[in-house]
Amino acid sequence: MIRKGRFNKPAAEIAQRYGESVSFDWRLYRHDIAGSIAHAAALARAAIITADEHQQIENGLRAIEKEIESGKFGWDHSLEDVHMNVEAALIDRIGPAGAKLHTARSRNDQIALDLRLYVKAETAEVASRLRDLQRALLHLVEKHVDVVMPGYTHLQRAQPITFSHYLLAQIEAFERDGNRLQDCLTRTNVLPLGSGALAGSTIVLDRERIAHDLGFSGVSQNSVDAVSDRDFVCEFLFCLAMIGLHLSRLSEDLIIWSTSEVGFLEFSDAFSTGSSLMPQKRNPDMAELTRGKTGRLYGNLISILTTMKALPSSYNRDMQEDKEALFDSVDTVRSALELFTSMLPEMKINRERMRAAASDPNLLATDLVEYLAKKGTPFREAHEMVGRIVAHSAANQIPLNQVSLAELKNFSSLFDSDAAKIFDVGSALTKRRAIGAPSSENIARHIALWRSRLVLTDESA
Ligand code: ARG
Repeated sequence: MIRKGRFNKPAAEIAQRYGESVSFDWRLYRHDIAGSIAHAAALARAAIITADEHQQIENGLRAIEKEIESGKFGWDHSLEDVHMNVEAALIDRIGPAGAKLHTARSRNDQIALDLRLYVKAETAEVASRLRDLQRALLHLVEKHVDVVMPGYTHLQRAQPITFSHYLLAQIEAFERDGNRLQDCLTRTNVLPLGSGALAGSTIVLDRERIAHDLGFSGVSQNSVDAVSDRDFVCEFLFCLAMIGLHLSRLSEDLIIWSTSEVGFLEFSDAFSTGSSLMPQKRNPDMAELTRGKTGRLYGNLISILTTMKALPSSYNRDMQEDKEALFDSVDTVRSALELFTSMLPEMKINRERMRAAASDPNLLATDLVEYLAKKGTPFREAHEMVGRIVAHSAANQIPLNQVSLAELKNFSSLFDSDAAKIFDVGSALTKRRAIGAPSSENIARHIALWRSRLVLTDESA
């Protein structure tokens, strides 16, 4: 269609196959058609097409959309991309009016528009799946609100927390992911259409009206920048990579906690896999796959950044390579979020194992330091004293909470009979009252806060 005037020979078959994008960009058809309908309305307002031609174009495009949705549309790879396929089908259907649609437009501003519409729609989809996952996490928080467990640093037992505090930490991370998506949306939500190939057009359209019709909050202010810009794709892929990062860390915790050695939890049968060889195996493949898929999400981000690096300004065909990475990350994150939302509520939590592990008195060595610090011992000195008490307890195989008061007094005269109370995990948690610490009042407050933020419906509550 576009070669007719300029070229004497048809494109080589191999060049067509190499250059086509319709095999993957067909997914943009809905946005492509919505953009064309808004463009046709602008052409009519500028009196480039008649009201009748406008009607024919709009009806034709809607019919094509139905045909695509019904699966009957024949995509033609020799027409390169989704844009040319839809336009050719329109001309086929309605004739000369269809041939007017591409006035004052280029595929360069058209693809920029389609991609922005796609990213906007997917931002909403991903955000809503993040919410679903946060809700699933909140149910778990409420179910296991008082279950104490060891908190770890360097994967070594550190200090006691509650399982609910751990889960609320995940909700916080996914909240940042949601906020990041909203922030990215402010830069995606800009209409590029009307920028033409790179220099606008001698036919002047009301771009603000087009933006309004398509639901954009602003209009791009420079036609070269508008067709050059794929920042929004990079940023969106970064947002998706961060969601993957968070899911991978959650996955790793759950995988470790599901080992026989730790035994804090068990994935349900429905989300566990067996071994083709070892009949006893029960593998956490879903979490492992999620950890692994995060690599793809990073790869897709690096792929677009590398494609865009040092590209001459405005449109270059290299930019066609942005789509598969984008689609793959969207598909990957959407399915990972859905998977976790289904899998988490079915996990069996072994509260007793968690509680038993949290009863290790060494978890409260820091509280012992703070006991002395509260009585005026400089923290560094107290830290060293308790270090020596821990070493003494290990060397003599006396659990830290069973070192006698008389012995404690050998290390510091400030130890008193109330020192024994330090080793009650419940009260150790109650004392952690500052903002962000895991006291049960704080947890209760956060549950209430997240409940109202996540607007729980009765059925999901
Ligand atoms: N398929 C192209 C892409 O995805 C659409 C824009 C083509 N523009 C061009 N001048 N060849 O980037």
